[in-house]
Amino acid sequence: MDELDEEDALIYSHFTHNGFVAFKEFFFEAFFVGFVIAIFFAEAGAFGIDFPDDTRGFFGEGIDEIDIASKALEVLPLATYFGLALGGRGLGHDFHFGQDCNRNTIWPHKETHALRIPHRKKYANFSYLCANMALAHTRIYGQDSPLPRPPEGRRYMAYVETYGCQMNFADSELVAGLLHQEGYSFTTRPEEADLILINTCAIREHAEEKIWQRLRYLESLKTVRPHLMVGVIGCMAERLRQRLFEESPVVDLVMGPDSYRHLPHLIRQVESGTKAIHTLLSREETYADLAPLRLAPNKVSAYLSIMRGCNNMCTFCIVPFTRGRERSRPCQSIIQEAIQLAKAGYKEITLLGQNVDSYNDNGLRFAQLLRIVAEAVPNVWIRFATSHPKDMLDEVLETIAACPNLSPYIHLPIQSGSNRILARMNRGYTVEWYLERISAIRRYLPNAVISTDIIVGFCGETEEDFQETLSAMRAAAFDSGYYFMYSERPGTLAARRYKDDIPPEVKKGRLEQVIALAQQLSLESNQREIGRVHPVLLEKVSRRASEDLTGRTFHGKAVVVRDIARSHQPGDRVFVRIREVTSATLIAEATDASPLGVD
Ligand code: 5AD
Ligand code: SF4
Repeated sequence: MDELDEEDALIYSHFTHNGFVAFKEFFFEAFFVGFVIAIFFAEAGAFGIDFPDDTRGFFGEGIDEIDIASKALEVLPLATYFGLALGGRGLGHDFHFGQDCNRNTIWPHKETHALRIPHRKKYANFSYLCANMALAHTRIYGQDSPLPRPPEGRRYMAYVETYGCQMNFADSELVAGLLHQEGYSFTTRPEEADLILINTCAIREHAEEKIWQRLRYLESLKTVRPHLMVGVIGCMAERLRQRLFEESPVVDLVMGPDSYRHLPHLIRQVESGTKAIHTLLSREETYADLAPLRLAPNKVSAYLSIMRGCNNMCTFCIVPFTRGRERSRPCQSIIQEAIQLAKAGYKEITLLGQNVDSYNDNGLRFAQLLRIVAEAVPNVWIRFATSHPKDMLDEVLETIAACPNLSPYIHLPIQSGSNRILARMNRGYTVEWYLERISAIRRYLPNAVISTDIIVGFCGETEEDFQETLSAMRAAAFDSGYYFMYSERPGTLAARRYKDDIPPEVKKGRLEQVIALAQQLSLESNQREIGRVHPVLLEKVSRRASEDLTGRTFHGKAVVVRDIARSHQPGDRVFVRIREVTSATLIAEATDASPLGVD
């Protein structure tokens, strides 16, 4: 112990405490490696491989008749060294080792955890190694540094920030429901929160960059509020797991999309001074019995999640890996929630799933679910997303046509207009099939609004492929859409199979062309609306003019209704006549002062 400085001494003191568990694991691993090496030599000897003399010297005479167990013990130091030098990866460990290494990782209970340990430790020394593992264990599982509590008698304040898709917004409301049960109140200002949860998206690299940036800001908050607890939840949490702890010191809690039930328990774990993580995906979890707490300030529109996960395995998509296998929420619990929302005064419900057309509750399919929900809450407008072109059935379109409160708005991602690229994306349809589905929509629902998603610059996309995408956009005459440059996501099928070979400037140029065409198509679509009358659900006061309200037509287009704020309020439904348009918005005036279909 002579050569130890103060910090080293601290490490040793930890070693004697929680470190015992780590040491046991370490010892077991080392023994196991030794065992394997001993067997290797025994087998090799049996096959007549001739070892150099010094190797024989080390293992002793008679290697063929080796007593494996005792020899394993003998080779323990060397085996340990090999095991660690190789990173122990064969055993699933991730244990970095060496003079320049400042990172030390252990893997208790089949999860890899990591922490930074100051440089200049001599890891080649077995005791230092054990001590550092012990310290890692203590920091991760230890109980010795509970978070300070907020001032006595005050309720804990939570702030939930959501990135990404509608599904994430719905999930944040589930999480808020759990926090509410735990006694938390909510704030819209992270600066005054005791607990901040960031619900994250992993779909594109840019989405994750935004989160890293946000975490850097939260680091500054933690310096002034040491008791602040920060959790990263959702898709990025599922994808990066404990790497979030490694890369951002502010993160206390990591929780994947199927782990929300564990939130109260994980919070208590963090309160007792331990980092907490739960990222196991489930095949059953639909949170059917959890009551979401609606976070949106206007009580007009609500999301209602009807299924989770995705089985499609589009090659570009990280979702199947972050949200797991597809499962449908029982119809009964969906209806119950819809009725509760209607009673609470909501005027519009959006049913959410990654691929709603494959909804299946013991044989009850999406078209039937739509009808049941529509009939259960006849005064609520019902929308849904997302449809998949390969699965969208005429039956669903028929149902929409038959039920007056089912909105004829269909979000049908095409992704690409080239059959070659669609096959590479594993989308399961051709452009011809897709355009036939568009014709079917227009046949059943002449008034339908159709939006799409398009990815440009997918692996191997030629200029010809891209031109086919532009042609498909024209043929489908999309009313609106969401357009993206391909972003390779580690672990996806595309990342494993194909090269991300389209230069960024080419992707950017293609995206610009897609957006320009999309704007033209949207403008044409909106121009066709001029003079028409539409029912509109008013949502909020316009940011541009306080006398106007904004909302959405029944068929899903954004609209500004002029001079209506004095006579109406968000949540009212009115008939409007469209007067002017831009590519993004309809501008209208109320045609009839009497509200439409309000409960
Ligand atoms: N790169 C770019 N866009 C993607 N999307 C999904 N994965 C990626 C990716 N790796 C788009 C698809 C999908 C939408 C939600 O996001 O268009 O429909
Ligand atoms: Fe991703 Fe395809 Fe599933 Fe959509 S359908 S979530 S793009 S895998």
